[in-house]
Amino acid sequence: MSPHDETSFLQLDEVQIYFRDIGPRDAATTVGLLHGFPLQSDMWQFQEPALSEKYRLILPDLRGHGRSSVTTGTVGMDVMADDVAKLLDFAQIEQAVICGLSMGGYVAWEFWQRYPLKTQGLMLCDTRSVADTEEVARARHMMAAQVVTEGAAMAAKSMLPKLLAAETHQQQPAVVQLVEQMILATDPHGIAATQRGMAGRRDFTAKLPEIDVPSLVICGSEDGISPPAEMAQIGNALPRAEFVEIPNAGHLAPLEQPTTVNEAMLRFLANVSSD
Ligand code: MLT
Repeated sequence: MSPHDETSFLQLDEVQIYFRDIGPRDAATTVGLLHGFPLQSDMWQFQEPALSEKYRLILPDLRGHGRSSVTTGTVGMDVMADDVAKLLDFAQIEQAVICGLSMGGYVAWEFWQRYPLKTQGLMLCDTRSVADTEEVARARHMMAAQVVTEGAAMAAKSMLPKLLAAETHQQQPAVVQLVEQMILATDPHGIAATQRGMAGRRDFTAKLPEIDVPSLVICGSEDGISPPAEMAQIGNALPRAEFVEIPNAGHLAPLEQPTTVNEAMLRFLANVSSD
């Protein structure tokens, strides 16, 4: 096995997608890790060392986030899924386990729908299968308008309290700071375009029984955005899923309780790789 760490940009027509390609290039399984909104691939920093010993990891900053270019208007989850597929093609990876947190999970559903043969498995962290209600979609459009005039600080102020468990806020100031920094680093136009895209995303709930790939469903016990009861239902509806609840974590379980999350991911990946 030959570990490596490459930082690169994929040039698409109008945008550059930043990504890192780490871990052994000849690994049996590749994992594409898709971050949440409005964050960037740095949110997987506690998974990187644990997973990259054995697995090749592709870590993009999704369009409009981090070091990738911004597209204004509306960026749908399908557009992001297409970017990920092009990234895998570029890296000459035929199939990957797609791991998505929250918005990354919305992109993962789309990825499976559009590229079933490229989907070796799914790891769904703190995410939802339902579409937005009209009320939630309206609130997203309002935030999209507000953030371009007020800046990313407005998004940080409204989102930060909801993203992390109370215990994380009290006991892990470095994690709180990291999340805040990632939000502040996101271009307001990227935030706005993604909010509009999420407002129009499809409902995958009825499709869950068709998603016949090995799946791991992970949820923080204190997640108020995609609560454990809702994620357990996703786990029940997926034909080949395991559901794992992570104690003392909110909506960003991989950052808040990395040891428990990594154990679940490594166990799952070992099973997928031996299939
Ligand atoms: C996320 O963490 O990606 C967001 O909570 C997704 C959303 O706003 O629905």
